[in-house]
Amino acid sequence: MAMRNLLYRSFAPLGPQVRAIFLRPWYEYISSLDREGEVRFMNYGFQPPGDKQVLVLEPADERDRLCIQLYDHLVGSSNLQGKSVLEVGSGRGGGANYIARYLAPTQITGVDITRRAVQFCLLAYSLDNLDFRQADAEDLPFPDSSFDLVINLESSHCYPNISRFFCEVHRVLGSEGRFAFADWRATPAVAQVRELLLQSGFAILEYEELNNGILSAIDDDEQRKNRLIRKYSPTLLRPVFEEFAGVKRSRAFYQAFKQNERTYFRFLLKKDNSSA
Ligand SMILES: C[S@@+](CC[C@H](N)C(=O)[O-])C[C@H]1O[C@@H](n2cnc3c(N)ncnc32)[C@H](O)[C@@H]1O
Repeated sequence: MAMRNLLYRSFAPLGPQVRAIFLRPWYEYISSLDREGEVRFMNYGFQPPGDKQVLVLEPADERDRLCIQLYDHLVGSSNLQGKSVLEVGSGRGGGANYIARYLAPTQITGVDITRRAVQFCLLAYSLDNLDFRQADAEDLPFPDSSFDLVINLESSHCYPNISRFFCEVHRVLGSEGRFAFADWRATPAVAQVRELLLQSGFAILEYEELNNGILSAIDDDEQRKNRLIRKYSPTLLRPVFEEFAGVKRSRAFYQAFKQNERTYFRFLLKKDNSSA
């Protein structure tokens, strides 16, 4: 526990610019570990409330059910047929692949700053309506008004300048487009995220706090995560991997979500055309 507290106390207060300096090589490094292509998601997963209809998945997708449920909850009931979708921070591509197969948009493009993650996606998935490219969330390589929906899941905490990212999303979204955005922050910082979204020209359609559903997914995913950590992480780095993966022992995530020191939030946004 002492090691965990030390990790938490050293990492938690870092500003976004400094955090990015550590996180960029970290994501390149972890992308090099999974040589079997077993890890397709890097989010905490989500267990929806008991009254929600159970998501029907193909048998091969069951192992990733919790992570897929977080994507499903984020995208909600949007009908994506005939739509063009961008995922920023697509990681190992599991979410974009789920959306391409189950929700059938005309096209979904995943972008990520991690070169190895994008290389993995280009080899792992081959669907006509799915593609990937390497790009920085703060400098999106697309013309104005290119997309009907932009998705961003558990990635924005890595960006040095979140306002620049919000401006880029606003620019590449069509006038009737939607921005589905979820991530975590230290609880007092969530109000600032909301304020920056408004300043960037978005109107909030939905806001929700997901801590309970995230905690219950972490409970249910404990065995699988510990198995992956034992398989892929060097012994000395295990406490770091456990913190990062948010297992139940983790100080920075499981305990912090439980004590509401951190909040996992979800926004659904549209462009605020009234101020245009
Ligand atoms: C926790 S992972 C989440 C990946 C994916 N959304 C998922 O749920 O599986 C965060 C991802 O954000 C990416 N990322 C970090 N900084 C980025 C940036 N400036 N631009 C684009 N992607 C970035 C990382 O490379 C990593 O793949």
